[in-house]
Amino acid sequence: MATMVSLRALLAVLLTLTAVAAQASLSPQYKRLPDLRHRAELENAWTAKRLATVPKLLKRYGVDAWLISQREYAEDTAFRSYKPATTFYARRRTVSLFHANDSSLAGSPNPITWIDITPEVWTDLDRVLEAYEPDRIAINDDPTGHIAFSDGLHSGERKAVIKALDKKWVDRFTTIPLIAIEFISYRVGGEGPEGQLFWYRAMMENVWAMIDEGFSNRIVTPGLTTTTDVEWWFREKMDNMNVTTWFHPSVTRYRAPMVDMAGHDHSIIQPGDMLHVDIGITALGMNTDTQHLAYVARWDGEHVPDGLKEGLRLANRMQDLTLEYMEEGKTGNLVLREVQEQMAHEGIVGKVYCHPIGDYGHAAGSVIGFVDHQEGMPVIGDLPILAHSAYSIELSSSYLVDEWGIEIPFQQEEDVHWDEDSESWKWVYGRQEKFHIVKWQPTLVNQAV
Ligand SMILES: *[C@@H]1O[C@H](CO)[C@@H](O)[C@H](O)[C@H]1NC(C)=O
Ligand SMILES: *[C@@H]1O[C@H](CO)[C@@H](O)[C@H](O)[C@H]1NC(C)=O
Repeated sequence: MATMVSLRALLAVLLTLTAVAAQASLSPQYKRLPDLRHRAELENAWTAKRLATVPKLLKRYGVDAWLISQREYAEDTAFRSYKPATTFYARRRTVSLFHANDSSLAGSPNPITWIDITPEVWTDLDRVLEAYEPDRIAINDDPTGHIAFSDGLHSGERKAVIKALDKKWVDRFTTIPLIAIEFISYRVGGEGPEGQLFWYRAMMENVWAMIDEGFSNRIVTPGLTTTTDVEWWFREKMDNMNVTTWFHPSVTRYRAPMVDMAGHDHSIIQPGDMLHVDIGITALGMNTDTQHLAYVARWDGEHVPDGLKEGLRLANRMQDLTLEYMEEGKTGNLVLREVQEQMAHEGIVGKVYCHPIGDYGHAAGSVIGFVDHQEGMPVIGDLPILAHSAYSIELSSSYLVDEWGIEIPFQQEEDVHWDEDSESWKWVYGRQEKFHIVKWQPTLVNQAV
């Protein structure tokens, strides 16, 4: 037994060392994504796998059917999570009946979808319901007014459905927010190039490669380049990489207040700055969200000031704590409180504001704090953390930088995926443990500083 324990301990140490070594040597490279046609094939295969979970999902929440009705440009929030990759909007009136794959509907397509602007769509639906006889029919009409993902039934469409359908079916309507949330947040498992994670990781590596390049002398000339220049460089780079985004990237600079020269353009990146970027991309029906930090050296070979390094280290510690407490089934609000208690215990000051990520950038599921609501969030913070989803671990430590004489936030954001084998969260690509460095350049402007 003793030998086994020590072997296991040795293995754990080795694994940790390997992980640390892997982390230290992360050197992201640009990865080509498949061409659009191949992307559509992959996406459709993932959607099929997600749709196969529907019968169990409905049974778990005690409903027999889930009805989604929408018109072109007034789609239900769940639409993008089940549409074919080559469909961009719902056409005309698109009515989808998801079912539990039993009795008269066993083996039928799931969902059964009608695309029809005439009243015939309702008689067709009614005929199927008569044969299927569902006792409870879920609709996306969230009564709390807090959960967008289970509230996709537009108000005019709801009236149309209620007017058209037999009262007997309307009486069987119910809203169970977790049905839409579980469906939308579900990540298709499996490693390898057929899996979602394989390409999600490639997307994330591309983001890291973009930040590496964007926060380097290739793009930034201290004293000349503005933060806006870098933001637009990121946007153009995404275009060249054949990806889009779900938010305009933001680049911000931090520096000691007394160093800032009056009358200077505050957006010009200067030696001695700490730079922050918040950036995400969209491709293959997936979204990423990342925040990193960089330091702009003041002379050749200058190291990152210790105060800045300490701020990042504390943010890394907060990431560890979040992943440690973020167990499946707990509410986001509970995880938030537990992380905050442990932070207080360790004397760390900061904010935690993590969100699910996937088909949407701010995706379906429980949130762990909002940046301006550190007391937790009603309703969406009380949802359970779901396995088989992905999260953006977004947070910031707040640290008094001795060298600068001010306290500043050290914002970090990295995405994690649910690991089926260990039943825990793993970084999709990695996390930032070292500052990106914009090296010193002997420009005229620098010499004036
Ligand atoms: C649906 O039912 C058919 C027929 O019983 C069965 O072959 C199929 O595997 C079921 N599909 C799912 C996703 O449960
Ligand atoms: C982007 O797409 C174009 C056109 O298909 C292709 O020539 C180019 O190599 C692609 N770039 C990347 C980085 O995948």
